[in-house]
Amino acid sequence: MTDVLSVAGVRKVFGSTVVLDDVSLDVPAHSVTALIGASGSGKSTLLRCVNLLETVDDGVIRLDGEDITGPRVRVDDVRKRLGIVFQAYNLFPHMTVLQNVTLAPRRVHRIARREAEDRARTLLDRFGLAAKAGEYPDRLSGGQQQRVAIVRAVVNSPRLLLLDEVTAALDPELVGEVLSVVRELADQGMTMVIATHEMGFARQVADQVCFLDGGAVLERGTPAEVFGAPREERTRRFLRRVVEAGRL
Ligand SMILES: Nc1ncnc2c1ncn2[C@@H]1O[C@H](COP(=O)(O)OP(=O)(O)OP(=O)(O)O)[C@@H](O)[C@H]1O
Ligand SMILES: [Mg+2]
Repeated sequence: MTDVLSVAGVRKVFGSTVVLDDVSLDVPAHSVTALIGASGSGKSTLLRCVNLLETVDDGVIRLDGEDITGPRVRVDDVRKRLGIVFQAYNLFPHMTVLQNVTLAPRRVHRIARREAEDRARTLLDRFGLAAKAGEYPDRLSGGQQQRVAIVRAVVNSPRLLLLDEVTAALDPELVGEVLSVVRELADQGMTMVIATHEMGFARQVADQVCFLDGGAVLERGTPAEVFGAPREERTRRFLRRVVEAGRL
């Protein structure tokens, strides 16, 4: 079966800095890939290239087998098939939760209000947010806002969900509720690529772990391989620091 996402030999340069160096990565349907690595290793840049927020300088990215890095690609069509959530929740402050979640279904996907709202309420309900549908974002906790942002990203059933440090801005006691939403999406078969500093979570939820170092995929394997028996000295050093910081 064709992989949902295939990244082959991707290179990205900012000025004289090589930020992604010959990165290759395949993401099968219904699998979860965790991108780990030190700050500045290129995790966000890789996700931004997949979402076409950055152009690649070399290599190819395919979504369901289609080259999305070519010159004739229709960016809006590609983005319709992707969901993305960043560290800062980015909800529209002047819209209620329900309006935030139904905006793209109605405007981009041209779904009737009634159906969009039904879908949105079903998802909000599933993630314990039903009572918040009519609230404005500033009346929600950070964890609730981030869960709404995730609902907004999956309401159109994307082929691929990209999550960039979705818990990094949260107080520690709110991290768990957001991770449990991600875990439930994984259990339901959502294909995901997740950049995260939550190693314990990556270990539990990921099928594949990619360790990025200086823009290159230094090591890739199952969580048991990468966390349990890292081959590379740099990976071992990174993981030791993570353990010291209490994150594994
Ligand atoms: N627009 C840009 N212009 C110039 N350099 C950039 C730009 N965006 C990112 N970089 C550089 O690219 C490198 C990779 O950054 P990136 O944000 O992808 O790292 P990261 O792995 O996501 O880090 P973090 O864990 O801190 O989020 C960094 O050295 C960064 O300074
Ligand atoms: Mg980042």
